Amino acid sequence: MASHYKSWDILVEDILSCTKCRLHMSRRKAVPGDGKRDAEIMLIGEAPGATEDELGLPFVGAAGKLLDSVLEDIGLKRSDLYITNVVKCRPPNNRQPARDEIESCSLYLESQILMIRPKVIVTLGSVAGEWVASRMGIRWLGVTRMRGNIYRGDMLGIKISLIPTYHPAAILRNKGNMEDLKADLRIAVEELARIKGSKRSSEEKEEKKGGKKTLLDYMKL
Ligand code: URA
Repeated sequence: MASHYKSWDILVEDILSCTKCRLHMSRRKAVPGDGKRDAEIMLIGEAPGATEDELGLPFVGAAGKLLDSVLEDIGLKRSDLYITNVVKCRPPNNRQPARDEIESCSLYLESQILMIRPKVIVTLGSVAGEWVASRMGIRWLGVTRMRGNIYRGDMLGIKISLIPTYHPAAILRNKGNMEDLKADLRIAVEELARIKGSKRSSEEKEEKKGGKKTLLDYMKL
């Protein structure tokens, strides 16, 4: 297997000129991803749509507008996140990406995750949910059954909290699930706060331990 990328510049260049699968023949622009390259929360969608294919940016079409409004509602800034897709080129007619297309593209997303080292990953829809869950050794049971929960585990040697949720395009078709999408993004924010809080308290414990001298310490002096 090819090794993971260590350089953003080379990764982006390779995605933009990629010909590893048939999707390169119909794409206008490949869409590597956008946002903070050391984001603590990463959002992963399925594949670019028509507007993304035209502009080379993720989630800038109708589904992206809906996502933006939900992020704003819960006080999350898009610029604080990293947003990308499992597949970097638009499948014709917005069909689901095929298994071999997902496989050809996987090295890019794995490399992005390894370079960003996010603490929380929110997957939008079943393609992204299944992609992340399978790499964490978690059985994927579909968005409806898995959303609303946090799956803590390990991916590529990084501790990850996975929060699966609906794809914003599915919300466009069924507005009834909008509150669930918001609730799941709130879970992501709370999970990040919990992770950072528990890291702080374990550091404080270490400090306290370090500050307290034992008899052994005095004997060593
Ligand atoms: N749908 C996705 O999954 N990703 C995008 O970037 C846009 C729409």
